[in-house]
Amino acid sequence: MLVFQLNMSPTILAIESSCDDTSAAVIKDGKILANIVASQAVHEKYGGVVPELASRAHEQNIVPVIAQALLTANITKREINAVAFTQGPGLLGALLVGCSFAKSFALGLNIPIIAVNHMQAHILAHFIDEPKPVFPFLCLTVSGGHTQIVLVKDFLDMQVLGQTTDDAVGEAFDKSAKLLGLPYPGGPLLDKLAQQGNPNAFTFPIVNMPAYDFSFSGIKTSILNFLKNNTQQNPDFIRENLADICASIQQALIQTLLKKLVLAAKETGIKEIAIAGGVSANSGLRQTIRDYALEYKWNTYIPDFQYCTDNAAMVAITGHYKFLAGEFTTQLASPDPRMKITY
Ligand code: KG4
Ligand code: ZN
Repeated sequence: MLVFQLNMSPTILAIESSCDDTSAAVIKDGKILANIVASQAVHEKYGGVVPELASRAHEQNIVPVIAQALLTANITKREINAVAFTQGPGLLGALLVGCSFAKSFALGLNIPIIAVNHMQAHILAHFIDEPKPVFPFLCLTVSGGHTQIVLVKDFLDMQVLGQTTDDAVGEAFDKSAKLLGLPYPGGPLLDKLAQQGNPNAFTFPIVNMPAYDFSFSGIKTSILNFLKNNTQQNPDFIRENLADICASIQQALIQTLLKKLVLAAKETGIKEIAIAGGVSANSGLRQTIRDYALEYKWNTYIPDFQYCTDNAAMVAITGHYKFLAGEFTTQLASPDPRMKITY
């Protein structure tokens, strides 16, 4: 029989394995004691994440990553009150490794498990450190698989106001980088090059979808055509203009995002604005959000770099709030690759 008190300050082991990072974290009384991330270099030569290779790498990484998290946190297995894991969204085989490990580890220790939504976890990463957003706030959640504007009413009460109808913005960054011949993962590299370029050197379309939705597949096609046309005239066009092209692409992607964020803030009257997910590490997006804070009198929340891209600390803080709310799952839980934020 599971014995625990809901009013206790729990110690939770958290596991993240939704894509190509194997991560484990420990949280005690709401404070992160360890956050270990093992990234998978195996995908580099393929120019993108290969799902089967991701699952195998998770299998190899999960035990040492968890052992390192417990060591860093200086706790024993017996001190853990619950195991939180990413249930979805993500790659089925990758999620399966974290989910199976969480279930067997918890079963062995006779402690409960907590299923966490990866996108909700990206948002709740804002509650790891100060300053913390005040409810209700809007969160622009931008990652390799998702692009959403979320109305966050409470820790576990969120509503997606708008989202991409095709590619995610992280995918648009990565695919643009690939077209420019940059190695995977291209988003951070494109960002680095953009810092030396002129964002107004070239113009790419800003697609306007209804309400708070986004579309990024059109911009990808226009970049492809733009590069084709220019390299036909000058085969060295990309090499000679690389920084300017990167800066111009980045500006178009950021403007597409912020146009809808401004609209959502205006129409909801909410001035507490956060960004989350891998693309929130983008220097251009971070700076533009800071500029808009002054212009629109927003209180903005930009995550620490370590909590932008995938990490288990965000799963741990979500697990913490779910534990306090008594939201546990059973040993019958299975991965949910298309898991929604509202449930
Ligand atoms: O949240 P995340 O680590 O994984 C998913 O949940 O998808 O996001 C990964 C995405 C990738 O597309 C990656 O290229 C992008 O975030 N990314 C960036 C930057 N750092 C990571 N995109 C633009 N600029 C960056 N600095
Ligand atoms: Zn993510």
